[in-house]
Amino acid sequence: KALEILEELEENCATSTWKLKQIADAMTVEMHAGLASEGGSKLKMLITYVDNLPTGEEKGVFYALDLGGTNFRVMRVHFGEAEEQIVNEEVHTSIPLHLMVGTSDALFDFIASTLAKFVAEEGEDVHLPAGRQRELGFTFSFPVKQLSIASGTLIKWTKGFSIEDAIGQDIVGELTKALERIGLDMRVTALVNDTVGTLARAHYDNPDVVAAVILGTGTNAAYVERANAIPKWQDLLPNSGEMVINMEWGNFRSSHLPLTEYDESLNAESLNPGEQIFEKMISGMYLGEIVRIILLRMAEEAAFFGDTVPPKLRTPFILRSPDMSAMHHDDSSDLKVVDSKLRDVLEIPNSSLKIRKVMVKLCDIVASRGARLSAAGTVGILKKLGRDKSRKEGEKQTSVIAIDGALFEHYTKFRQCFEGTLEELLGDVYETISVVQSHDGSGIGAALLAASYSQYIGLEE
Ligand code: BG6
Ligand code: GLC
Repeated sequence: KALEILEELEENCATSTWKLKQIADAMTVEMHAGLASEGGSKLKMLITYVDNLPTGEEKGVFYALDLGGTNFRVMRVHFGEAEEQIVNEEVHTSIPLHLMVGTSDALFDFIASTLAKFVAEEGEDVHLPAGRQRELGFTFSFPVKQLSIASGTLIKWTKGFSIEDAIGQDIVGELTKALERIGLDMRVTALVNDTVGTLARAHYDNPDVVAAVILGTGTNAAYVERANAIPKWQDLLPNSGEMVINMEWGNFRSSHLPLTEYDESLNAESLNPGEQIFEKMISGMYLGEIVRIILLRMAEEAAFFGDTVPPKLRTPFILRSPDMSAMHHDDSSDLKVVDSKLRDVLEIPNSSLKIRKVMVKLCDIVASRGARLSAAGTVGILKKLGRDKSRKEGEKQTSVIAIDGALFEHYTKFRQCFEGTLEELLGDVYETISVVQSHDGSGIGAALLAASYSQYIGLEE
């Protein structure tokens, strides 16, 4: 019976080349719809007000705050001559769980106090020109309706956050109030999504970068769009130039997506039912949870682990994607790593080799589906940009996609599957595409954008 469940799962999760091409097409269609009108699609296609990507001219000391991934980070970056950048200092911490579901004031007070501590510990060597305020780029990795480069209201929370009273508020306003409460004189000059920070950072090194994708706790993409291809903004934008669009592709939905009953349960039990369906099939926060839900069903209906259901299997989110990745990469003949994860995480001792093999298979089915879907999404963007076609004779067009996030960085099989699927979908065109990892790019990207949009631009140092 357990094997039947597994077979059925494999069938339902199947992502043939043909199906992925339909998903890529559907992504392109939704991108058009989201750009055409507000509310025109599940894809919000958010205007970011980033119409100039960093050029390499940025100079000075800037700060960055990075909220929304696995880690909360504060950093100070010094952009010097000849595109030299020195990340002088950095703190990493995780946001305490109770703050992720508490109040806006509590969250922003925590952020402001971490920032204040960081500044208080600065050495004498940090020089800001006299009379100038410290300036900050704020990477806030959630959907925001930007009102300007340095303000925007929170549309909804995603991933593990749920703080009711922050929804609809100006995020920069909330942070600024907290900075005032703690007495820190600092000004947010850029509010950016992590995809946008990553894009800015990568574009600074390589102007062929056309899009950035995050494959981490959550998933999303941003890319550079022609301003005159954004009908919903024609009144406000000049009919020329470019605009970075934050797609919020985690909320993509299509009848072509291979959704299973396990996805339905995950969705129903999540903090945001009905939302972020694409993200829930792909990203690091959810992959392990999908595997747990399948295992629970196998335990309940097929006595996969014997007569009793191992109690830990009933704990949501107990199986994390790093555990899953470790099991998936286990190449020992007796699958030792799988055994130890079953023991330590799920408290299932003495697993048989057969059980361990099924575990690896499950991880493979769930991770491959996620990786293949994210590759299809990426092809959707290339299509929208007209970069999914072979180069004409003599043409040198290269499209670089910058990627960041723990899933891409640490889950090797996920990454290989993502890249292999891009090749499968693009054929010869794959040669014109390059995928680069932009490690921790979005913090530096936000600092760069803080520099590009500084209030002191144009003033002599
Ligand atoms: C980091 C970015 O490098 O990647 C974050 O600086 C981003 O802003 C993160 O959210 C995504 O990765 P993860 O895996 O931590 O969610
Ligand atoms: C979620 C957020 C999005 C972010 C992504 C990756 O999808 O809504 O803004 O970019 O996670 O961190």
